[in-house]
Amino acid sequence: MEITIFNLKKTYSEREILNIEDLKIERGKITGLIGPNGSGKTTLLNILSGLDKDFSGIIRYDGKLLDGGIYKKMTLVSQKPYLFRRKVYENIEYPLKVRGINKDERKREVKKIMKRFGIEELRDKKGHLLSGGESQKVSLARALVFKPDLLFLDEPTSNIDPESIKIMEREILRFNKETKGTVLIVTHNIEQSKRLCHNIIYLKSGKVGY
Ligand SMILES: Nc1ncnc2c1ncn2[C@@H]1O[C@H](COP(=O)(O)OP(=O)(O)O)[C@@H](O)[C@H]1O
Ligand SMILES: [Mg+2]
Repeated sequence: MEITIFNLKKTYSEREILNIEDLKIERGKITGLIGPNGSGKTTLLNILSGLDKDFSGIIRYDGKLLDGGIYKKMTLVSQKPYLFRRKVYENIEYPLKVRGINKDERKREVKKIMKRFGIEELRDKKGHLLSGGESQKVSLARALVFKPDLLFLDEPTSNIDPESIKIMEREILRFNKETKGTVLIVTHNIEQSKRLCHNIIYLKSGKVGY
């Protein structure tokens, strides 16, 4: 999905947090979002993913304003992911379930993605009892399992060991290549952005710049 942004403004108690005149996130590409702490990256992802509706300006998804149909095709993996107090398996199965995928196919897809991520041994653990890094891995698996058109990742590998980072990057690249899904990823790791991203957007004090 392609995103176009016009005159996006966001304030918190009169303090300007975002001010983006004109910005395009290209369809089918992996775009990196880079900028110092507090520059508004998470705020922007929350707005683009429909979580935060308190802003002014216009955001279009393939030319259309956000609606239920578009909302169903996208997902956000937040910096501190939220998992249900259920088994990891059920957490990953959930997005397929709400989209009406039948049980056999759900089973197949969840098994496949758990294998790719090397998280089979977490299958029966409770989501809310996982470590930070485990939660991030499971959350990315849960996001990729339903092959969204649009994927927002907020520092997805910040708590992750090097071996797991490799796996996650491989799966993000595979997802983009196989499904042509659009990805917007916040990262502080310049090397990671070089490995993953086709484009980079720099954000500073809520403005796009270089
Ligand atoms: N709920 C909130 N109320 C007030 N200010 C907030 C709130 N959330 C974020 N901010 C402020 O907005 C700015 C941008 O935050 P954020 O988008 O989280 O930055 P980043 O993700 O780039 O580190 C920061 O100055 C932060 O303090
Ligand atoms: Mg942030």
